[in-house]
Amino acid sequence: MCGIVGYVGPRQASDVLLGGLARLEYRGYDSAGMAIVSDGNLEVGRRIGKLVNLREAVADTPMSGNVGIGHTRWATHGKPTVENAHPHVDCSGRIAVVHNGIIENYVELRAELAANGHILLSETDTETVAHLVESYFDGDLTEAVAKTIKRLEGAYALAIVHLDEPDTIVAARADSPLIIGMGDGENIVASDIPAVLEYTREILVLEDGDIATVTAGEVRVSDVSGAPRTPETLHVEWNLDAAEKGGYDDFMLKEIHEQPRAIRETLLGRMDADGTVQLSELQMSEAQLSLVDRVFIVACGTSYHAAIIAKHLVEQWARIPVEVDVSSEFRYRDPIVDDETLVVAITQSGETTDTLAAVREARRRGAKVFAITNVVGSRVTRESDGVIYTHAGPEIGVAATKTFTAQIAALNVLALKLAQAKGTLDQDRIEALWAEISTLPDIVEAILAEEHEIESCAREYTDVVSSLFLGRGVGVPVAMEGALKLKEISYIHAEAYPAGEMKHGPIALITPEVPVVVVATQGHTYEKVVSNIQEVRARGARVIAVATHGDDEIRAHAEHVLYIPRTSEDISAIPATIPMQLLSYHIAKMRGCNVDQPRNLAKSVTVE
Ligand code: G6P
Repeated sequence: MCGIVGYVGPRQASDVLLGGLARLEYRGYDSAGMAIVSDGNLEVGRRIGKLVNLREAVADTPMSGNVGIGHTRWATHGKPTVENAHPHVDCSGRIAVVHNGIIENYVELRAELAANGHILLSETDTETVAHLVESYFDGDLTEAVAKTIKRLEGAYALAIVHLDEPDTIVAARADSPLIIGMGDGENIVASDIPAVLEYTREILVLEDGDIATVTAGEVRVSDVSGAPRTPETLHVEWNLDAAEKGGYDDFMLKEIHEQPRAIRETLLGRMDADGTVQLSELQMSEAQLSLVDRVFIVACGTSYHAAIIAKHLVEQWARIPVEVDVSSEFRYRDPIVDDETLVVAITQSGETTDTLAAVREARRRGAKVFAITNVVGSRVTRESDGVIYTHAGPEIGVAATKTFTAQIAALNVLALKLAQAKGTLDQDRIEALWAEISTLPDIVEAILAEEHEIESCAREYTDVVSSLFLGRGVGVPVAMEGALKLKEISYIHAEAYPAGEMKHGPIALITPEVPVVVVATQGHTYEKVVSNIQEVRARGARVIAVATHGDDEIRAHAEHVLYIPRTSEDISAIPATIPMQLLSYHIAKMRGCNVDQPRNLAKSVTVE
């Protein structure tokens, strides 16, 4: 995710900004820039690539001044180019804006601004903010920002400067973090705590809807109507390493906890007011989509499990047959793919060699290929016909967590879109499903709040050598992902099976030493799953069940029950995954494993 730093005080702002942005480098970015209020001028410097490029530019042509805003951009709208790098300025060049998040209604805003004579130079959603502030400014920057944010839909953290108020930064947030480090005669706005720790440990935490007017000596916070607010402040004891991890012990745990936001941002803007599912990236009309009669999905690792979940969704909702293949198999097995087949490649990194080869093979055979990826500008985006982005932000832990659930969120949208084009679900059903999908971020939040119970369950399984994961229906790929997480970070052998297959082999492995994790959420095969649980219990296995709140019966069949809120069966994959992630995480930690960098594994596998 992008980084924001803003400084107002007695120091050279460019030094503080470069230092603060460097502290946010671990989050990943592809361009960097800053705007400094310099003696009545607004100086803007932007460079693609690493911060060192911006640093060199500033060394060549110093940007002198005590007030400024800086940004590291991780591309979401538009490629990583200088034109798309932040800060963005208005027509007059007197206002500069840096932004994290996604402005959902930016297409309408751009059209409106262009119609009113504004000239927009980038492909970004952010640039609209600079021009909106310009159009609303009437002598008071805070007021202009308040009017601007009333027009914004989506998620944002903003820091804005205006030459007419050269001693001030105005900051605002909704659904994207923003803090202010309060120093002695200086203040620093930042998207994350590490950026300010060199100067202060007193942190003011902005809430959604807050607007802060920041000068060297004062921070005034109000809500959008102008009413003053007294935000929470905290004294941070963390060292830099802990601060980069947001106070969590590891990136993996931080990323598990970032899932509500990752899912929310991935779903943003996907349903129009008239009930049309929005997936314009496919660049196919409803008529073209309605002709799709076969879908082929290729992926590796965790992304492969998202592919199997997609198979369930697309077949269930759009009634289109879906074939799923591991990329390394697809490329060598003469697959039956032609120009009537829609091929979807799922890859969080966008760089996995086997998946790229599968994409090339599918296109060689005439198929249209769409990529689902988390990295703008990655290779898969250049080699596919269209791209659907997940908006999970950079994932640093090697084991995929938030990119997985964000992929499932995007695949929910794809399946709904196909169902709408095919007419296989009526509009009421589509809207009801969408309403339920939209609650997923809150549901995940609720499950994360019960982490301590999962942790105490984990404590009883740290000495295990082998384990089995079972599920039915959409619970099968959830079980597969649960087993993969456990084996890759804790090095415990874990095998996943469709529960009904257990009697054909794996049941021979069952002993009291082999615990069985079962996805036992309520659905049309629930009773069958309970029977499978009884079969393993009869052979002495300890059972950990992931079940639905209110299901008391399951307690009679399992040693441990990890409860999740009730959802309809089709969308239960994301909620059921969360306890699996936390269980693996805590078992691995208790075994002393390095969860962020498990042995022998790489985040992005660019070899065959
Ligand atoms: C590696 C990573 C996994 C990931 C897999 C596929 O093995 O460690 O977390 O699921 O690659 O990566 P992709 O970027 O194609 O989704």
